[in-house]
Amino acid sequence: MNRNGDLIEAEGLCKIYHTEGEDVHALRDVSISVARGEFLSIVGPSGCGKSTLLYVLGGLTTATSGSVRIDGQNLIGLSDTALSRVRAGTTGFVFQRFNLFPTLTVRQNIVLAQEISRSGARDMLNADEILSRVGLRGKERRRPSELSMGEQQRAAIARALAHCPAILLADEPTGNLDSANSEAIVALFREMHRDLRQTILLVTHNREVAEAAERIVQMRDGRIVHNS
Ligand SMILES: Nc1ncnc2c1ncn2[C@@H]1O[C@H](COP(=O)(O)OP(=O)(O)OP(=O)(O)O)[C@@H](O)[C@H]1O
Ligand SMILES: [Mg+2]
Repeated sequence: MNRNGDLIEAEGLCKIYHTEGEDVHALRDVSISVARGEFLSIVGPSGCGKSTLLYVLGGLTTATSGSVRIDGQNLIGLSDTALSRVRAGTTGFVFQRFNLFPTLTVRQNIVLAQEISRSGARDMLNADEILSRVGLRGKERRRPSELSMGEQQRAAIARALAHCPAILLADEPTGNLDSANSEAIVALFREMHRDLRQTILLVTHNREVAEAAERIVQMRDGRIVHNS
């Protein structure tokens, strides 16, 4: 499955969550490669391991076994500090619940993300450029509670892009949005992919949202069952 120049190369990933009553096998021997600039979506029923896979690939969680290479660097065995340095330099996350800082304005949320990752990041876009890209110019002084759901998700995407991550990872980014806002967010992802050649991994339940991507990976019960 390995191809030359892949940005993400994961092989034989297993993830077991140890809970009180049982061990949950969330990933069972998952291998996946993602090319630089590729837009990939991951679909599958609830509980099949989509979020776990995304978090392992993004270095938010470690796998029980298997390997993950990002841009040639192996994440397995890195210390938490080293892992957070890799994250700050290469990945941006968008979550279903936005996770914005409620007391900060939209602009401050972006600037804070830039400050946190300053050490690892390469060519930083300026906050205003990012706000224009996501269609939030004029709303930069609002706090999250003063924005619609769709706008909050745009702000969260802006924050994820703040340090110019090589990879944008999005977990159900349209899960809390109505269909018009979902479509607008999907259009934004397509634009970022087309104009910025952004590598995007998008987890979604929604087949229509998934079809915005160039490739759809289907998971079931901790495994990849279809990779088109
Ligand atoms: N922190 C955890 N501790 C124990 N089990 C967990 C934990 N996180 C996830 N799981 C279990 O691992 C499996 C995969 O969960 P995961 O969140 O990756 O699924 P998902 O495909 O993202 O589901 P959804 O579509 O509902 O978000 C599930 O059985 C889930 O219950
Ligand atoms: Mg999930």
